Amino acid sequence: MTTPTLLLREPDDFHLHVRDGAALAAVLPFSAARFARALIMPNLIPPVCTTAQALAYRSRILSALPADTRFTPLMSLYLTDHTPAHEVDRALASGCVLGFKLYPAGATTHAEAGVTTISCIYPVLERMQEMGLTLQVHGELTDPAIDVFDREARFIDAVLAPLSERFARLRIVLEHITTRAAVDFVLGARAGVAATITPQHLLLNRNALFTGGIRPHHYCLPVLKSEANRQALCAAVRTGSPRLFLGTDSAPHARSAKESGCGCAGIFSAHAALELYAEAFESIGALEQLEGFAAEHGADFYGLPRNSGRVRLVKEPWSVPSAYPFGEEELVPLRAGERIGWRVERDE
Ligand code: DOR
Ligand code: ZN
Repeated sequence: MTTPTLLLREPDDFHLHVRDGAALAAVLPFSAARFARALIMPNLIPPVCTTAQALAYRSRILSALPADTRFTPLMSLYLTDHTPAHEVDRALASGCVLGFKLYPAGATTHAEAGVTTISCIYPVLERMQEMGLTLQVHGELTDPAIDVFDREARFIDAVLAPLSERFARLRIVLEHITTRAAVDFVLGARAGVAATITPQHLLLNRNALFTGGIRPHHYCLPVLKSEANRQALCAAVRTGSPRLFLGTDSAPHARSAKESGCGCAGIFSAHAALELYAEAFESIGALEQLEGFAAEHGADFYGLPRNSGRVRLVKEPWSVPSAYPFGEEELVPLRAGERIGWRVERDE
């Protein structure tokens, strides 16, 4: 019997955290081995707020790449209450920046400098709309009185739905969607609205946070949701909607920062990102939708050419190490010490 194999157009990761310095060098090769391009998130300390900072960060990423890879980092700028509208013109002129990331202040890791009042960014949104740059959104309200599992749905009602009507031509990606509410919003929204989905939100529900004890390596933001919500995400990708595409939100943190009295949010999945999506799509009988999701919808949404290379997914299980080196520390990946059903081969 021959091993099942899938030949796919080279995919892109439209939501990726690679950090900086030694951490960058440790994690970048995993993404470069699977993806042709990735949209790099700007939540460094200090955040990547200007085009000049993004270009410098992009150079550091290119320098950290293994010699035999061609991988293109695409950049997003971190919005603050003070981002000037003319930054949009600089960003566009750079040719390397796809858009701006809206972190509601305090919503997640390194979001302290994010936006406190949405009207502060109206001038920059107006200019983005005119110039065709995309707003990437971390869609959660931060009010501590709101139940953590409701923050995405409440953000959509209170902020995103009105914003997408007010700026009716603004291109918007609701990042890492986790709920039926988000699926309904995105699939029913006006043209120019799309969403990314992570592997963990397709594969896991919130029980995974508590299996036999507390599981810090399954903690990310937006937090894992109920099984009903997970199934809504799976059903949505099975439709093959061009509004939904791959964004891993792979977010590395040192083991010590995760296994702590106050552990950081973020799941590292770059070591097996495409393989994990293949498992998720296979489990819902949707492998034929994987190529669109991973390699076509995102490029089309952003107006980028689809990649011309190919990757091969082979259905052969392999064991994920219990940890990877991470500078002076270690990094615990998703599925640490367990098996993954697919592996990737790159066709050059
Ligand atoms: O879990 C998360 N980790 N969610 C985010 O939005 C940020 C990310 C990170 O940078 O660690
Ligand atoms: Zn993220």
